[in-house]
Amino acid sequence: MADFSKKYGEYLDEFNSYLNKFCSQLKLQPQILDESLKYSLLLGGKRVRPVLALATADLLGLAHEEILDFALAIELIHTYSLIHDDLPAMDNDDFRRGKPTNHKVFGEGNAVLAGDGLLNTAYSTLIKACYKGKNYVSAAEFICACAGVEGMIAGQSADLLHENDISVNESVLNFIYENKTSKLIMAPVVSASILCGGKYFSELKWYARTLGYLFQLTDDILDVEGSFSDLGKSVGKDKTEGKYTAVRLFGLEESKLRADMTCESCKKYLEGIKGDFSFLADFADYVKSRKK
Ligand code: IPE
Ligand code: IPE
Ligand code: MG
Ligand code: MG
Ligand code: MG
Repeated sequence: MADFSKKYGEYLDEFNSYLNKFCSQLKLQPQILDESLKYSLLLGGKRVRPVLALATADLLGLAHEEILDFALAIELIHTYSLIHDDLPAMDNDDFRRGKPTNHKVFGEGNAVLAGDGLLNTAYSTLIKACYKGKNYVSAAEFICACAGVEGMIAGQSADLLHENDISVNESVLNFIYENKTSKLIMAPVVSASILCGGKYFSELKWYARTLGYLFQLTDDILDVEGSFSDLGKSVGKDKTEGKYTAVRLFGLEESKLRADMTCESCKKYLEGIKGDFSFLADFADYVKSRKK
């Protein structure tokens, strides 16, 4: 795991310097729009999606410069989803990435606009990348589908719809997990494959889909037994908001068992790949045992 942490740190630094450069070139008016967008973007976060993009590019032999704009667009979309997710109209959270949420600092109206602005900027970034050729258009199309009304937005809609729903229906949980979380985790991994003409498309798609499921499982587990200081967000919120989570459906211990099994099946999908997939395999273990 020492190698994994070192490599993760290198990917993180590379992406963060790309993001910092992008932000320094973005000078928006009025100033509050500029500040509110950059506030959430530059607070940090684990950057798991950009790291996955760079790692998959390495596995497939794709130059980082080919994927960095896609990684950037996905992180912009992810950050917008967090700002909106935290609004009082959705999960009503006061802390994110260790700091007060966007609406707590800038007010609800500005937080809605910061999210809209990030989404819009992501699409402009994707469109510019499309001029490079057909594979870039296909990759951008895939990312839009993951983020859109048959992707993350559908998952968020179902998440709200099933608040305080006391049924135990695994297919509802799967729909929420797959759409609100897995899709934006599939986006960086699968778009790298698409940029390489669909290399290992199926293996990588199933790996990322399962990894996304694991990521939301651990998010739900950490909401019960994680700490504010590690997570940078309030804990115990899923219960108070009546969320449809694995912990609510199956209990904490069964959810942990499911996380173990999901992690193993996630790694199995990599076995069909000829190449050094150890970072992606270690990534699954990292997600399973993460504390933040
Ligand atoms: C939080 O995502 C929202 C979920 C999909 C569970 P992350 O845990 O990736 O958040 P950051 O980017 O590290 O803050
Ligand atoms: C959010 O899921 C997924 C998004 C699309 C933002 P959660 O609502 O569980 O994420 P946290 O716990 O607030 O980070
Ligand atoms: Mg939510
Ligand atoms: Mg939330
Ligand atoms: Mg959560």
